[in-house]
Amino acid sequence: MYRTHNCGELRIENVGNEVTLSGWIQSSRDFGGLTFIDLRDRYGITQLVFSMDENKEMCESARKTGREFVIQAKGVVRERSNKNPNRPTGEIEIDVKSFEVLNSSETPPFTIEDKTDGGDELRMKYRYLDIRRNPVKENLIFRSKCSLEVRKYLGGSDFVEVETPFLIKSTPEGARDFIVPSRLNKGQFYALPQSPQTFKQLLMVAGMDKYYQIVKCFRDEDLRADRQPEFTQIDCEMSYVHRDDILDTFEGLTKHLFKTLKGVELEDFPRMDYDYAMKTYGSDKPDLRFDMKFVELNDLAKGKGFSVFDDAELVVGINAKGQSKEYSNKAIKKLTEWVKRPQIGAKGLVYVKFEEDGMIRSSVGKFFSEEQIKSWGDLMSADAGDMLLILSGEVDKVRKQLGELRLEMARNMGLMKDGDFKPVWILDFPLLEWDEDADRFFAMHHPFTAPKKEEIEKMKSGDFETLKNLKADAYDLVINGAEIGGGSIRIHDRELQSKNFSLLGFTKEEAQKQFGFLLGAFEYGAPPHGGIAFGFDRLCAVMNNQSSIRDYIAFPKNNQGKDVMIDAPDTVDEEQLIELGLQLRKD
Ligand code: AMO
Repeated sequence: MYRTHNCGELRIENVGNEVTLSGWIQSSRDFGGLTFIDLRDRYGITQLVFSMDENKEMCESARKTGREFVIQAKGVVRERSNKNPNRPTGEIEIDVKSFEVLNSSETPPFTIEDKTDGGDELRMKYRYLDIRRNPVKENLIFRSKCSLEVRKYLGGSDFVEVETPFLIKSTPEGARDFIVPSRLNKGQFYALPQSPQTFKQLLMVAGMDKYYQIVKCFRDEDLRADRQPEFTQIDCEMSYVHRDDILDTFEGLTKHLFKTLKGVELEDFPRMDYDYAMKTYGSDKPDLRFDMKFVELNDLAKGKGFSVFDDAELVVGINAKGQSKEYSNKAIKKLTEWVKRPQIGAKGLVYVKFEEDGMIRSSVGKFFSEEQIKSWGDLMSADAGDMLLILSGEVDKVRKQLGELRLEMARNMGLMKDGDFKPVWILDFPLLEWDEDADRFFAMHHPFTAPKKEEIEKMKSGDFETLKNLKADAYDLVINGAEIGGGSIRIHDRELQSKNFSLLGFTKEEAQKQFGFLLGAFEYGAPPHGGIAFGFDRLCAVMNNQSSIRDYIAFPKNNQGKDVMIDAPDTVDEEQLIELGLQLRKD
């Protein structure tokens, strides 16, 4: 038997027990007559004591071990004289009677501690060592518990888990596909699914009624902290439902996960129109942990002779409460440089400080009277000590820029509090998005999303402006400014689906070639249906106040899409390429 107990479970009640433990050496300390070893496994750390007086030979060989050696120790539990209150096993230690080295170890390239000295790339290269560290290990355990709770909740509500294929057909919409050459069908390729979208709709036609799957998805897109090329979705679809049936089910699931895994009782989620979110927060994923709503100033600030505002489509600001004292001229200059960075792209920043002593200081004091500036303050509920930050320009751009500035100010002001969770449903997204470069419409969500019922007629006959403003029956769940999930009611009518494909620039033949299987299925009694998918990695990260999903994925890719541990992607043998028909034999 390798062990009678794990390294995290022995307590004062076990004093006198004979035990066997196995694990890795976290650290050892040598005090002449006594050697102490901290032995670690997944469950915790227990102190082992080797005594020279009792067994000189054993003590000497214990001293020859190093960090991360794998050992087995047999001994008796005894009370520690020098207790460690920070460790669950801190009241006891093991008086070792015999031990064995099960395996030796190289010195690890970074310390296996909660706060390690290893950088990101190094830890990725030795991910199996990184996972020995508590924070990463705990994240993976959290993820495992979370998927179990998802299965309990959805399984308990009549959802059926169905696996859908990974080798599918490439579709032109959405992100880029990862493609897989077919050996048996030379010159032809599978694609890895960006999501099981069409399959889950086919399962509705097939009568499964409530489907779910915790499923890998693959997207060849540029990577960020919250994006991986392969990631996991909690993917669902339901038949005979309206939007609110889906929102209620997944709001219930989210509340269940927060309650069981975090002990947090979430209140009912607010619901917000896309248009309102864009106008008020400059984003379709507003962080509602803080207020700082946009206030539009066109009526008060335009037409007064300040050409920057006069030439702008929109003048809009936020009130940074209590910040007038915090921001010196130098700090405002830095903030101005921040908004002018290419990533944000503002031309400049106007500020107004309502000082505690009643003075008003502003970068546009020359152009506006004190009365005029005060009227902005009134509209923006400014009190003494507040600072207004104002941007101007084209509507869409300026909203986006101010949205970024709002987040930056919240970061600077410490308004994004850990443990504070603010979910919101964003509803009624536009159906179509016009792409200037491609000179065509793209589906904002995906081509299977239904327009809102009252928009169907407009969709059939609408002109460009009408089409641009069509609303979809699509929704996102946002928590603390992160898009956790998205879904929609689907088109289940062949005619309407064909119309949508034609608006998206597909000819009849192209639509038939790409999506004939779905259009064909719609001929056989497709029920009204809709669904949603949560980003599982993102949900885990946000529930733990993290912005990077990497630490919730056991073996993630780096920002170049590489797995530096196994060195993938990599070249393959010429012979493999020839076999796949990707290269001709040279002779
Ligand atoms: P969508 O494309 O919005 O919808 O994806 C759903 C959710 O998946 C997560 N997500 C990602 N997570 C990590 N890395 C990525 N690269 C990544 N891309 C997306 C996000 C997102 O909200 N089939 C539809 C769903 C539906 O309509 O039912 C779909 O895939 O959290």
